[in-house]
Amino acid sequence: MKNKKVQRFLKRILDILASGTGLIILSPVILYYVHKISKEMGRPVFYNRLRAGQFGKAFKLYKFRTMTDAKDKEGNLLPDGERLTELGKKIRSSSIDELPQLWNVLIGDISLVGPRPLLLDYVTLYNKEQKRRLDVSQGITGWAQINGRNSLTWEQEFAEKVGSKHAAALSSGTAAIQMALMAAGVGEGDIVFCPTLTFSATANPIIYQRAVPVFIDSDYETWNIDPDLLEEAFEKYPDVKAVIIVHLYGLSADMDRIMDICKKHDVVIIEDAAESLGCTYKGKYTGTFGDYGIFSFNGNKIITTSGGGMLVSDNEEKIAKVRFWATQARDKARHYQHSELGFNYRMSNIVAGIGRGQLKVLDDRAAKKKYIFEFYKSELGAIQGISFMPDNEWNRPNYWLSCITLNDTKVKPLDIMQALEAENIESRPIWKPMHMQPFFEKYDFIGTDVSQKLFENGVCLPSDTKMTDSDLYRICMIIKGLFE
Ligand SMILES: Cc1ncc(COP(=O)(O)O)c(C=O)c1O
Repeated sequence: MKNKKVQRFLKRILDILASGTGLIILSPVILYYVHKISKEMGRPVFYNRLRAGQFGKAFKLYKFRTMTDAKDKEGNLLPDGERLTELGKKIRSSSIDELPQLWNVLIGDISLVGPRPLLLDYVTLYNKEQKRRLDVSQGITGWAQINGRNSLTWEQEFAEKVGSKHAAALSSGTAAIQMALMAAGVGEGDIVFCPTLTFSATANPIIYQRAVPVFIDSDYETWNIDPDLLEEAFEKYPDVKAVIIVHLYGLSADMDRIMDICKKHDVVIIEDAAESLGCTYKGKYTGTFGDYGIFSFNGNKIITTSGGGMLVSDNEEKIAKVRFWATQARDKARHYQHSELGFNYRMSNIVAGIGRGQLKVLDDRAAKKKYIFEFYKSELGAIQGISFMPDNEWNRPNYWLSCITLNDTKVKPLDIMQALEAENIESRPIWKPMHMQPFFEKYDFIGTDVSQKLFENGVCLPSDTKMTDSDLYRICMIIKGLFE
């Protein structure tokens, strides 16, 4: 005991000497960046966030500011990637933004060596073993971090990125939808509203839960669920357990109207943001408006772990319950005991590690996807009859796929797909609506022919971020050739 006290004392002395010396030696560098940042972004120069220190005690961890407070027209903060300044990027990549933490060491909030301090909100997510990291002084380095770090850090990083409080990493986006339905209490015979224009993975989990889907048509403004039809659906089915909202092809649905309608009917909202990671509606990430949001890291998504999904929610209890169901619903007992039906839906630690790496490239990918979309628009936009997917003022898409529709043209979607295929280039039709699918056609559908028209007239153009300008140019030439 006495030994430990001496050790702690010596460590503290070492911290004070090292951080004090560090601050003195590095003061020209620190002053230089204080000057540069205040010139570029104004004050404050430092950014702080509440972290958990030893024994969970809250403290403010200081860093250099790397992002502006840029807002859109409605006054909502722009996504992180667009607020990060050029200087911010540089100082982040060289870790210079971490220098102000020497001050935290000097005043005793943290030590030089120890596990990285967690965001205060996340402490409650840790189990007993993981909470042991709080027994010691937190540190600038991560040397003392304990096992299980990958999946927890990945969940935290992901939740932080999209602006949700909690996240559960799962084996797929489909599993995440099923878990969200279970968390919403959806069971046998319950009605669930679902957009008809989507991939079947949105609707399948409704059937897994033995519930009953009611499909709703899209509008041309968003290609997503039509809010007027949603209202109509509530008139027909006042007792609805949950509504699934999809943000198709990285375009957000009209969330203000949808949220108003759903709140009026006091129904659980599940957002299927499988295709829209990085897309914002009025500055807020899609997937974070409803009670639950789901994301997919399937091979074709904007970032991928080869396969995987994430469920986000501000409801900590529900996320804990999902983690429990997803790990075979094993009760807290030494022997193997199960009081509920379990699933093997948890994401593995190795896959989570890949996700952490992928999250770092999300903003770059979205920027390249936007570039691809704009390239197509500038090359093909002038062709009579070609329309691009809708670009609303409040919508900042991730441009997952660049999609077009052909209106009254002699060239049909199949002509484009076949001409590209002849050159070994893959393109796809727009999703075939669920109410037109043999498996789902027996369920009710509310709407007209909007999604059907989008399906019949639409093409998803090649949108891989590895494409070069000459690849894009070649694709445009093939398409233009068909209209000549
Ligand atoms: C709209 C939509 N929802 C759900 C999913 C399911 O995700 P996953 O493939 O990870 O199960 C996908 C993609 O595959 C999708 O495009």
